[in-house]
Amino acid sequence: MKLSSPNINIMVKACRKAAKTLIRDFGEIEKLQVSIKGPGDFVSAADKRVEKIIIDDLAKARPNYSIISEESGKIRNDEANKWIIDPIDGTSNFLHGIPHFAISIGLEQNNEIICGILYDPIKDEMFAAEKGNGSYLNNKRIRVSARSKLDNSLIVTGGPKMLSKNREFAFESYKKFSSEVFIPIRKMGSAALDMAYVAAGRFDGFWQRDLNYWDIAAGIIIVKEAGGYISDFKGNNDYIQNQTILASNSKIHEEMIKVLKN
Ligand code: IPD
Ligand code: CA
Ligand code: CA
Repeated sequence: MKLSSPNINIMVKACRKAAKTLIRDFGEIEKLQVSIKGPGDFVSAADKRVEKIIIDDLAKARPNYSIISEESGKIRNDEANKWIIDPIDGTSNFLHGIPHFAISIGLEQNNEIICGILYDPIKDEMFAAEKGNGSYLNNKRIRVSARSKLDNSLIVTGGPKMLSKNREFAFESYKKFSSEVFIPIRKMGSAALDMAYVAAGRFDGFWQRDLNYWDIAAGIIIVKEAGGYISDFKGNNDYIQNQTILASNSKIHEEMIKVLKN
């Protein structure tokens, strides 16, 4: 079965177009690793190139919708309809030639994310979801895992950011999960893909602080439509405002909150 609707089709089209440039640019990175200047400037140019292709394409299809994008900030003033874009989530991976990053596009309507796509161009994995219509990976329905205990779960986190005030918390929560609950934790370097992997049942849970809206917008609907739960660390719904997010299958959510609360 295929997830297809006017909005999803617009997003997928813009994303696939941008992905061609992104894949080509990723091919250049290896060469730049060995240059003295390194690939830093090249990567920020690649980021902007990808973003411009997406923004131009989306604007052609929906000229009035606002855009909130990592590199360009806010464009237009449509409060009801907003595209939320992260052109490359996992920039550090991209910069170091590690093939794990994604293009993320979400659509917010009347203060709610109603559809989103996340595309990993290297593995050619397109995650997509729309409110009420389920989550998909390359046109196959996905569901969160059924693991019911933290004990045998595999969870993922990211950060902390170098300058974050929340560094201590990040280390503490990491320690709690790994040394008190004794479960394996991964750090993959793309919050967007972390959430997509929770939706696909690859990871059982994900938590992180200091995230921006564009890191998680598409992931939110993809996790929810796959049957997962999303909250802040106390179990409340203010995760976007608080920039803290806990996404997991429905069964271990409470247990994860307990660890994060302590
Ligand atoms: C970052 C990634 C990373 C997360 C950071 C984000 P970027 O986004 O999602 O996994 O730990 O907090 O800022 O900079 O690669 O778009
Ligand atoms: Ca990001
Ligand atoms: Ca980014």
